[in-house]
Amino acid sequence: MFTLKSAIGNYIIINDKKYSYFAGNNYLGLANHPQLKKEAISAIKKYGVNFSASRETTGTSELHLQLERLLSEFKNKEDSVVFASGYMGNKILLNTLKDRYSAVFTDESAHPSILDGIPSNISNVFFYNHCNAEHLETLLKKNNKYKPLIITDGIFALTGEIAPLNKIYPLAKKHGAVLIVDDAHATGVLGEKGRGTCEHFRLDRTGDIFQSETMSKALGSYGGFISASKEFINKIRENSSVYIGSTSLPPPVTAAGCASLKILKKHPKLRVSLIENAEYIRNRIIKMDFNTTCDNTPIIPIFLNSQQSAQGLSDFLKENKIIVPHVKYPVKMDKFIVRITVTSIHTKDQIEKLLDLLKKWRDKNGID
Ligand SMILES: Cc1ncc(COP(=O)(O)O)c(C=O)c1O
Repeated sequence: MFTLKSAIGNYIIINDKKYSYFAGNNYLGLANHPQLKKEAISAIKKYGVNFSASRETTGTSELHLQLERLLSEFKNKEDSVVFASGYMGNKILLNTLKDRYSAVFTDESAHPSILDGIPSNISNVFFYNHCNAEHLETLLKKNNKYKPLIITDGIFALTGEIAPLNKIYPLAKKHGAVLIVDDAHATGVLGEKGRGTCEHFRLDRTGDIFQSETMSKALGSYGGFISASKEFINKIRENSSVYIGSTSLPPPVTAAGCASLKILKKHPKLRVSLIENAEYIRNRIIKMDFNTTCDNTPIIPIFLNSQQSAQGLSDFLKENKIIVPHVKYPVKMDKFIVRITVTSIHTKDQIEKLLDLLKKWRDKNGID
């Protein structure tokens, strides 16, 4: 697509030219934050760039333990475990819970990390219509000879919709299903304290929803994590082949994760400005009659009917020094998407310029 010659921020450099950047997942603008960089550099100076061992052999450092303590505090859970990739979190959960289910029920537009994480001995996988709890219930009733596990994205990566956990959770209770939420895009974004989709729906105190999370998006660092009871986290540490068999999170990103959690705690306004920016842009886009989604999240898709239109809009914005990609992603999708992502560090000028150009394009090309 293009080669970056700069850090990720509200502007980026491509081929020595500066572009306004409404892409990626740096929702709170932390990926290039001075404090994260400072702590990452100090960690490299002290520990080098890699611990070069699995956590279970000789790869656990005081930095990992500090990060896990901070994550547990942030999530208000007894314990947390970090590992080298958010993508692996669903696999870790689906394997650790393997004795509790015999069939998986998931959204038809689930992220590939969910599908890749389903253990190979589970052949009963049922797909419910996108965000449709009524269809999920129909499938649960029809297949009630199985022990069910439901797994969904919290915020959907391409469309910014929030999974209807307020409907899915009661269904899970009613049908005795284990429930997992992949909160990659919701961590640091949704909920009063940024704890994600469960907190957004005030379900975080129920304690019986498993969340797979990442530090690579709103938290501005890198790596996956799971927060839960001490007993469950110990089970992961003792049994997960991903955890036991992969090199521990490298020092700079571990330290940056710690810095990020401290910033999140000290500056809750970062999340407020993110949500305000997202709401403002989405409302204006809806007023322009573009086909989009309505949940208030930082991912704002513009749905178009042809690849040509989607690429055309993305190219038009790029010609005018704004990056908004036409995303092609391995997720079931009927329309072509130009995906705007908003951050808390976008300025009013940047936002107005984006909206003016969208209006200009719509006046010439329509909304299809
Ligand atoms: C819904 C979802 N889950 C998991 C991941 C993987 O997280 P990570 O990139 O931190 O490995 C992503 C995206 O990258 C995602 O969009």
